Amino acid sequence: MNYFLRGIGVLTTVGVVSVLAFSLPSGEARGDGGDYVLPRLKNKNWQQECSSCHIAYAPAFLPRASWRRLMGDLDRHFGENASLDPAIQADILKFLEANAADSGTSQMGRRVMQGMDAKAAPLRLTETRWFAHKHDEVRPATWSRKSVGSAANCAACHQKAEQGLFDDDSVRIPK
Ligand code: HEC
Ligand code: HEC
Repeated sequence: MNYFLRGIGVLTTVGVVSVLAFSLPSGEARGDGGDYVLPRLKNKNWQQECSSCHIAYAPAFLPRASWRRLMGDLDRHFGENASLDPAIQADILKFLEANAADSGTSQMGRRVMQGMDAKAAPLRLTETRWFAHKHDEVRPATWSRKSVGSAANCAACHQKAEQGLFDDDSVRIPK
């Protein structure tokens, strides 16, 4: 009896351990691989309207309050007029908020929120502490190189930025 119960205990432990072990790779396959792989998200309006001047920055890079500020001021968007039809604007904002850094939907978001003041609403992800930390090895002069332009130009160095991949294998700083 004793052996029997112990046997069940061992089997249960093995079961739990293997479930944990196997849930990690499948999490990555879903696209949430932690620090550098973003979940694959679909929103037609966001993809269409927010990727014509730069890549469509993933919602997980900024908290909800930031997206509300940005989407509320599109006619004065970093010196550009990026205003939209109100229905489209509302649809994009809803999508950004649902997947924002503080929405609890991605590892990337959790990382971005670490070290951010709870009330902060930065307009630039490139000015967050998270971004500075991830890029502490990039020398200041590199950002203003002609081939880069600005830190906001992720795709200059992250060759798979448009697919939401920021792993170190796909980073190459241009000359
Ligand atoms: C008409 C062009 C244009 C469109 C359309 C546009 N943007 Fe931008 N956006 C800019 C420019 C210019 C910058 C500043 C880039 C730089 O500093 O190099 C910028 C910067 C940003 C930044 C800050 C990047 C940083 O430095 O961290 C965010 C966030 C952003 N845009 C979000 C959006 C969203 C969301 C949409 C869609 C609703 C959008 N943009 C559509 C032109 C545009
Ligand atoms: C001048 C080139 C350059 C630009 C522009 C740039 N990055 Fe990076 N990024 C790097 C380098 C270099 C690293 C460090 C790679 C490593 O860990 O080996 C990095 C790391 C990262 C990481 C962490 C990856 C990991 O392995 O943990 C993320 C996420 C990231 N960048 C996102 C962005 C985003 C988003 C933008 C645009 C808003 C951007 N980067 C713009 C060069 C750049």
